[in-house]
Amino acid sequence: MENLHVNGVSVVYPGRHAGDRVHALDNINLNINSGDFVVALGASGCGKTTLLNLMAGFISPSTGELLLGSKKVSGPGSDRGVVFQKHALLPWLNVMENAEFGLKLQGIPKQKRREIAAKNLALVGLQDFHEQMIYQLSGGMQQRVGIARALTCDPTMLLMDEPMAALDALTRETIQELLLDVWQKTQKMFFFITHSVDEALFLATRLIVMSPRPGRITHTYEIAFNRKFLACRDARAVKSSADFIKMRETVLSIIYGDERAAETVEASHG
Ligand SMILES: Nc1ncnc2c1ncn2[C@@H]1O[C@H](COP(=O)(O)OP(=O)(O)OP(=O)(O)O)[C@@H](O)[C@H]1O
Ligand SMILES: [Mg+2]
Repeated sequence: MENLHVNGVSVVYPGRHAGDRVHALDNINLNINSGDFVVALGASGCGKTTLLNLMAGFISPSTGELLLGSKKVSGPGSDRGVVFQKHALLPWLNVMENAEFGLKLQGIPKQKRREIAAKNLALVGLQDFHEQMIYQLSGGMQQRVGIARALTCDPTMLLMDEPMAALDALTRETIQELLLDVWQKTQKMFFFITHSVDEALFLATRLIVMSPRPGRITHTYEIAFNRKFLACRDARAVKSSADFIKMRETVLSIIYGDERAAETVEASHG
């Protein structure tokens, strides 16, 4: 399996005037190995989406480079599957047709691509919904199709930008558990963005906390609450354990510290 290396990456967005330039990321160094579930947390504007967009190849760094294995990331590729906050499914196609779409584009024969898509749909619990149209599905089911679709081309890496943000709390918890099952079964690299500290702690093997202006990784934690869950299958027990609560307080104090600092900057400029 290939690893992802983010080496000394900075991103500066050009503004309309020289003074409007946004230093979105500054000297980011990060290695993601197969089987890592990396979650990024941080105040709004700290560059999380920018970092994911670099990994997806949607944008290029201003300085530094990203390598997937030994290959430089220079654009989107089927080795990286992306799940968006708002599902980006094709509403005029049904569940199966969405899940097999990427393979169809690659010219894979129908029987073969249906077989692969069916396997991915089963992985997200949608084996009985192949014929349903996207608009007939709940938000949670749509996100499941989004996950199945991202798995279509058997990517090395899954990239997810707040994929649960629009879901109700109960559906969100169900999909968190489902994601951990997918992670355990596929052993792919995951890069996941969220604003929920609980979600981050529950899912991650590594948690990176970022701070804005310019976007930097300020804290990194290796954690194992996800493995605890996979061993006991009791999310409530994991999330109410003393270790989990202590870690949540630590992370919250870092993030709220940042947000207060950001407000002070804005107030002094406004
Ligand atoms: N295309 C762009 N052009 C100019 N500035 C941009 C662009 N995209 C993002 N930015 C700026 O770069 C900074 C980082 O943005 P980014 O979207 O990566 O943050 P984020 O951590 O994902 O925030 P959020 O939590 O709100 O999604 C912000 O100040 C944002 O305004
Ligand atoms: Mg974002």
